[in-house]
Amino acid sequence: MLAALKSAAVLKPSSLRQLATWAHIPMGPPDTILGITEAFKRDPHAQKMNLGAGAYRTDNGHPYVLSSVRKAEHSLLAQLQDKEYLPITGLAQFTDAATKLAYGAQSPALQGGRLAVTQSISGTGALRIGAEFLNKHYPNHQVYLPNPTWGNHGAIFRASGLEVKQYRYFDKSTNGLNLEAMLEDIREMPQGSVVLLHACAHNPTGVDPSLEQWAEIQQAMEEKGHLAFFDMAYQGFASGDADRDAGALRMFVEGDRVPVVLAQSFAKNMGLYGERVGTFSVVSNDKEERDRVLSQMKILIRPLYSNPPVYGARIAAEVLTNEELRKEWLAEVKMMADRIIGMRSALRSELENLGSKREWKHVTDQIGMFCYTGLLPEQVDSLARDYHIYLTRDGRVSIAGITSGNVKYLAESIHAVTKD
Ligand SMILES: Cc1ncc(COP(=O)(O)O)c(C=O)c1O
Repeated sequence: MLAALKSAAVLKPSSLRQLATWAHIPMGPPDTILGITEAFKRDPHAQKMNLGAGAYRTDNGHPYVLSSVRKAEHSLLAQLQDKEYLPITGLAQFTDAATKLAYGAQSPALQGGRLAVTQSISGTGALRIGAEFLNKHYPNHQVYLPNPTWGNHGAIFRASGLEVKQYRYFDKSTNGLNLEAMLEDIREMPQGSVVLLHACAHNPTGVDPSLEQWAEIQQAMEEKGHLAFFDMAYQGFASGDADRDAGALRMFVEGDRVPVVLAQSFAKNMGLYGERVGTFSVVSNDKEERDRVLSQMKILIRPLYSNPPVYGARIAAEVLTNEELRKEWLAEVKMMADRIIGMRSALRSELENLGSKREWKHVTDQIGMFCYTGLLPEQVDSLARDYHIYLTRDGRVSIAGITSGNVKYLAESIHAVTKD
């Protein structure tokens, strides 16, 4: 600081003001995924592949705007609606339809007005509102995240003042779920802890518990009085069936023995990434409790952004409530999920056809947008340096970035870096 002030003495007054004010600020580390995208963009090679970003791509490698979404936009345009502010908790038509999709139209969570729900700035905003709500109103401030988990989870919960811990989830030796370790950790957490659960299509591993395993997890959580914080960013993307992908959430709600809160996103399953459409909800005991919970959510949201953006919520509401669009949308979700499932099979068979000695069964066992390949950081580095293929150093591949045109090249490159 002293050195900066000394050298500032010989500078013009305008430079002096800037130096003194911000000179102490250190450079922050770049975002991992954005760093990968930057490296990919700089690479001039014709066969380069970006397998870092978690966004759906067509079989031509292009971003995809769903036809049901386009039709909803046309219909909205024709309605010439105003641009007035929404209420603090957002568009009721949207939150009603969205929560029916998540919990199921007949869910006990939706009976008797017991669900406290707010529209959110996509899944990230839902997680953040949820984390802030827990920090302020839940007695236990420890949140347990699966190891590994989506890179932003830790930052979101820490920024909200919660203490972030981990539970074991992934088994490196099988590239599958380590259920025993997960249950053991759940049983060892302090009574009433917050446990973050990926509702489906776990990011980054693509490893989901089966319904039988979820029942065991529910049982263990009930025994310790834990709270389940479901993060559902990929409903429909795992199996292609939105109801099936909500199976774990619905099992917990129907069991009614573990308190449930939910962060829901429409970024992936409706392709509304940049529109920032989501919900955060708390399953309360009754309407009176819900009213109190909702009043506190409003108190959190008002000084943050007053009220959420209207356009994306209108699109999602239109898609969800117009029978024809909804049908078309569900078929499009299935089409996206099926393309991903198809690319998993193609990658595995290409690797096996190349005579790879390694086991690639996990590529097809895992589910959703991501595959945790088991590639080592040095192998990932080599893929980028020698083959122009970019992914995170934990070996996570975004399957959505694979196409029928590049899967062979990817398999050859993976084989080349893993065969010794
Ligand atoms: C597990 C998980 N949760 C939440 C999100 C939040 O996404 P968004 O804020 O775009 O809805 C993501 C996005 O990649 C995710 O993978």
